[in-house]
Amino acid sequence: MPLVSMRQLLDEAAKGGYGVGAFNVNNMEQIQAIMEAAQQTKSPVIIQASRGARQYAQDRYLYHLMLAAAELYPEIPIAMHQDHGNSFETCKSAIELGFTSVMMDGSLKADGKTPTEFEENVEVTRRVVDFAHERGVTVEGEIGVLGGIEDGHGAGGTGLEHVTDPDQAVEFAERTGVDALAIAIGTSHGAYKFSKKPDGSVLKMDILIEIHKRLPKTHLVMHGSSSVPKDLQDVVNQYGGKLKETWGVPVEEIQLGIQHGVRKINVDTDNRLAITGAIRKVLWESPEKFDPRDYNKPAREAMQKVVATRMTQFGQAGHAGDYSPLAIADIAKGYADGSLVTAPLVSAK
Ligand code: 13P
Repeated sequence: MPLVSMRQLLDEAAKGGYGVGAFNVNNMEQIQAIMEAAQQTKSPVIIQASRGARQYAQDRYLYHLMLAAAELYPEIPIAMHQDHGNSFETCKSAIELGFTSVMMDGSLKADGKTPTEFEENVEVTRRVVDFAHERGVTVEGEIGVLGGIEDGHGAGGTGLEHVTDPDQAVEFAERTGVDALAIAIGTSHGAYKFSKKPDGSVLKMDILIEIHKRLPKTHLVMHGSSSVPKDLQDVVNQYGGKLKETWGVPVEEIQLGIQHGVRKINVDTDNRLAITGAIRKVLWESPEKFDPRDYNKPAREAMQKVVATRMTQFGQAGHAGDYSPLAIADIAKGYADGSLVTAPLVSAK
């Protein structure tokens, strides 16, 4: 199956009432782990690469690994997504490379750290939407600012410093025409999200529910959605790691979000923890080993297990065969003739 439009993947998820995990990758083993999990659970999937990942792996390696995944698993719909594009140029280069979806994170300036003004965010996101939709590529925008820092990208702080204002979310979606919208409801990137188990009073689920009511056709995205399970933390620490006690986003909160329009759920940290724990274990228990396959294989298996679990919890399991992929050129036609518009568009100021 060719790489598919993320818009199609999310429209199908909305029809089916489920969420789709978007898992970050930097190398071959992570892509393999995700694809094995997708095959095992029969799940459509979003594979995403940050700017840091593109730099680390190099664009051409990454792109051809993705093509290999599409070739080897023809029964699995795969969208390839740019995570946290920091500028029009980053998104443009991803689209030209062959990504079928981009995130323009205009909530921060191009330095990836300083929060922007609303108008600046609208302007850059709208520019990306115009360029991307003409080419059949999906766009995710962000309104409000996530906490934490990931791959050097992020405003830092807790996730509760710039929670999304629902009025702004509606205006932003209408003026930009984004397909998917990341909102800030108190989550943050990385392992250190909460110092105690968060409940409905910590995560602003009421804001999410209100935004979905007012923007029923815009697919909502939850970033910073690793659950940071204690068992994964324990493996890392048992074999010489030094993680401090921490809590992530409970899966039940994500599932509540899915009932209210969350279609894309970003997960990176849980997989990083699984990989690191597995590698530490091998090297701790068998210090004589030096063949990278001796630790990369268990690391890949540990990540596959986490991804398969999330796919089942998010509800995407079993849905890989529900639909045939539309050609990206047909998606572009849908944007051009107005059949794929998400929110009632008003002209940009
Ligand atoms: P986590 O750090 O919670 O895995 O979040 C990843 C993410 O949101 C990527 O954009």
